[in-house]
Amino acid sequence: MKDLSPEPWRVKVVEPIRRIGRAEREARLMESGYNVFGIASEDIYIDLLTDSGTAAMSDSQWAGLMRGDESYAGGRNFYHFDRTVREIFGLPYVIPTHQGRVAENLLFSTVLKPGDIVPNNTHFDTTRANIEVNGGIAVDFVIPEGKQAKGRHPFKGNMDLGRLEECLAKNAGRVPLVMLTLTNNSGGGQPVSLENVRGTHELCKRYGVPLLIDACRFAENAYFIKEREPGQKGRPIPDIVREIFDLSEGCTMSAKKDGLANIGGFLALRDETWVERLKNKLILIEGFPTYGGLAGRDLEAVAIGLREVLEEDYLAFRVGQVTAFGEALASAGVPVVEPIGGHAVYIDGRAFAPHMSPERYPAESLTIALYLEGGIRAVEIGAVMFGRPDPERPGHETLPDLDLVRLAVPRRVYTNTHLEYVARVVIELHRNPGKLRGVRIVHQAPVLRHFTARFELI
Ligand code: F0G
Repeated sequence: MKDLSPEPWRVKVVEPIRRIGRAEREARLMESGYNVFGIASEDIYIDLLTDSGTAAMSDSQWAGLMRGDESYAGGRNFYHFDRTVREIFGLPYVIPTHQGRVAENLLFSTVLKPGDIVPNNTHFDTTRANIEVNGGIAVDFVIPEGKQAKGRHPFKGNMDLGRLEECLAKNAGRVPLVMLTLTNNSGGGQPVSLENVRGTHELCKRYGVPLLIDACRFAENAYFIKEREPGQKGRPIPDIVREIFDLSEGCTMSAKKDGLANIGGFLALRDETWVERLKNKLILIEGFPTYGGLAGRDLEAVAIGLREVLEEDYLAFRVGQVTAFGEALASAGVPVVEPIGGHAVYIDGRAFAPHMSPERYPAESLTIALYLEGGIRAVEIGAVMFGRPDPERPGHETLPDLDLVRLAVPRRVYTNTHLEYVARVVIELHRNPGKLRGVRIVHQAPVLRHFTARFELI
């Protein structure tokens, strides 16, 4: 892979990994119902399932764990965490949770009425599910370019402001909040421009609806703004971050991504209105408001990680590594979503296996083949994750616009040599697409089915 600046760290601890034999991999697949979520991580060679909770912590973060104050109430790490979140995001009310989806659960179980509508550029699966179980309707208004794998629009995560305005105008009183996901994970890890955040903010203000940000990958998004948006080059990353959040009324955050931590999250708000109800609910489902389901030491790791993630050298290497990995695939003709996103490379499953009907779940088939051929674990973000029974055509599903395989790169974990290996396996499969076998679903849960579904090869 070309033109990479070296990692801005050196290795202090190593964790051995190994590649089990092909026959064993085949057996593991059969036992798991061909669902890579069901395979033990010890049987995975390179694990690109997610960038969530998989980061390598720094020596400072490990040292911070030793400073954990495990008091039930008012532990010192909470104050460090709270101060850090308020300084970086400028949001005064900070509610810790053990991960992002609990922030979503708290928010939507508190503010939604049945039939309410929540627009987003694209809802992540847990966000959508938390809206739907509370009787709400989750709608995605990403710009048309964001639904195409091809095309090099620099901010494919942008909200379609025309469609958002139409929705707000038509549904007065039914939209309790608007969300914006930075970066747009379900649409290829594509960033949202500062101009688009401003535009979304203006519309929300005009219609009196709060804008909340899904902040999971806020630092990577800010880095793309600095790199790609006219007039932003000279700005420090923390300034860009602060401007984004100054345009919002709050955020949900999974610190397992750009918190550089293995667990953690929060909900942060500008206004007090919902806070008391949220904290009461927090006590019921997570814990006291100064720990929110986390150990004191975890709060410390997040507080430190949130500052490290804003370092320019870190972000340049991080985004550069993912880009170089994606471009190695693209230059060999593999159909990837372009431009390359911030945390992952996304392969277009339908274009990768054009011989296969979209109803045979080509992206899922590719995740199975990646494990079988290379011991690599990726995740389908496509028809299995987002397909729904089609009310008009019994036995069929409505399928999402994009059927993707995501190769998510954990932060500070794999070297470029690891990613070169993955690229070789993908390129080899792309030359032999006949190795991919379509699947049918033989078992599925009513919500978030991709985690536990079982498949049969066709
Ligand atoms: N929002 C986005 C955009 C996400 O990517 C995730 C998690 C969440 C919310 C929920 O956070 O896992 O801490 O509860 N994404 C992970 C992934 C699981 O693999 O992309 P969580």
